[in-house]
Amino acid sequence: MKRIAIIFILFSFSVSAQYTDINIVKEVKVKNKGVVVSAHPLASEAGAKILRMGGNAYDAIIATQYALAVVYPQAGNIGGGGFLVGVKSNGETFTIDYRETAPKKATRDMYLDKTGKVNTDLSQNGRLAVGIPGSVAGFFATLKHGKLPMEKIIQPAIDIAEKGFAITEQEANLLNSHKVNFQKHNQTSTVFVKNTPWKAGDLLVQKELAETLKLIQKSGAKGFYEGKTAELLVSEMKKGNGIITPEDLKNYKVAERKALEFDYKGNHIVSMPLPSSGGILLAQMLRMSSYENLEKYQQNSTQAVQIMTEAERRAFADRAEYMGDPDFIQDKTSYLISDEYLKSRWKSFSFNKATPSSEVGKIIKQPKESTETTHISVIDKDGNAAAVTTTLNGLYGSKVVVSGAGFFLNNEMDDFSVKPGVPNMFGAVGGEANSIQPNKRMLSSMTPTIVLKDQRPYMIVGTPGGTTIPTSVYQSIVDVIDFKLNANISVNAPKFHHQWLPETVAFEKNFPETTIKELEKLGYKAEKWGQIGRTEMILIDDNGNIHAVADGRGDDSVAVE
Ligand code: GLY
Repeated sequence: MKRIAIIFILFSFSVSAQYTDINIVKEVKVKNKGVVVSAHPLASEAGAKILRMGGNAYDAIIATQYALAVVYPQAGNIGGGGFLVGVKSNGETFTIDYRETAPKKATRDMYLDKTGKVNTDLSQNGRLAVGIPGSVAGFFATLKHGKLPMEKIIQPAIDIAEKGFAITEQEANLLNSHKVNFQKHNQTSTVFVKNTPWKAGDLLVQKELAETLKLIQKSGAKGFYEGKTAELLVSEMKKGNGIITPEDLKNYKVAERKALEFDYKGNHIVSMPLPSSGGILLAQMLRMSSYENLEKYQQNSTQAVQIMTEAERRAFADRAEYMGDPDFIQDKTSYLISDEYLKSRWKSFSFNKATPSSEVGKIIKQPKESTETTHISVIDKDGNAAAVTTTLNGLYGSKVVVSGAGFFLNNEMDDFSVKPGVPNMFGAVGGEANSIQPNKRMLSSMTPTIVLKDQRPYMIVGTPGGTTIPTSVYQSIVDVIDFKLNANISVNAPKFHHQWLPETVAFEKNFPETTIKELEKLGYKAEKWGQIGRTEMILIDDNGNIHAVADGRGDDSVAVE
């Protein structure tokens, strides 16, 4: 078959050093070729390289994740966890849950002092905040869907870690702003701290991380969960209040779960089930807003934002009450996404005024938000699609680097309800369903999603952003399906977010003022945020043309096979 490749490089940027040609490609239109969209040009390129070597989407998404662990240490990781949603060219759907789990020594009240007060510093920073990492086990579980051996897939990441790469301005600023935290939480020096401030173009070389990746290359998952890497990780725990043991690491298991699937306006949506709340929230929000014929309105118009905010309010109240690790709680997913339930939930909606949050769930407190986590969307030339969202939780996770092994550890324990009713770092309030128990997975918001039309991938989408993840993915899907917008507009138009508590609606700084003013007249309380999410979207039209867009809010970039 004739191959046509049309590549639009809309914006590019280069810096010089070892990995000199860092071209940030924001948008690509192509046919009969695979594409990878991720938060960093070198990581997207690592995935594309694997596609060129004959790998498929699943090989490529592993390579991209390893590379992100090197070039995007704020969220790319081997010390965290994630979720993969896959749809194969034969129509098979699957998910891999490599979420972190609570160590065996974890207890329900481990972050409470004697008076019962929560110490969120402990759940968010340092060694006690770390959940048992799942990423490397997840990469090996993904391998069975791929075509290439891990030895080859991991090599691009090893090369970049060893030779170094030129950091971008965004990464330099972030490393500088976290210097004090890195020094506070690490007893030995790390490559992430230097005496003079980082600047764009500086070379970041990670020899220790390269050695860790080589151990994985040589010994498989055991190269991480046993042997030298595991010993270094456990010894890092012992330098402070960490509780992860060798047995915790050895016993870590991924969960291969049935995807959460539902129909939306003639499309079929494949997303992540519990322990991510993402898929359920998405189904709830899309279904509730469909009761008001959302397609009649326009993106970011007063009516559309009001309908969507009210759907978000009701869905997030349910998140707090019912959602957690399905291996530990009664899983109410089918009821929560049923029309029977959602129609009754929607009865209190009125165009005349905001619904008070107290009317849709029991009230508690306030938020804080940031843009950690990262998403990758991939399709290969055969039509295999993969969406992964992966995270250390906060930026650089717990800020602890495993000394001698060179990678950051997550602070995912904060995604549990550290005290039921008290908000986490995203302001999300949880209940007993998400309380801490040994070996339990903490509730997530990550929403890697693939939309099918006529049984074929139509849209591959996801984003970082904590609790803003499901609401951003919701907006992306509504933009494309209801408002008939293209990928670029959907990804880059200003976003908004509501999560039941706090009562406020957050708007990106460039959001239309007229909409905000009209909503305020209806009783909505507005708040301005710098940015919401970093969406990576691939759209495939009926003729097989692939339109891939990397979010303009960061260094995100598309690479082509
Ligand atoms: N740590 C963010 C999430 O899992 O949703």
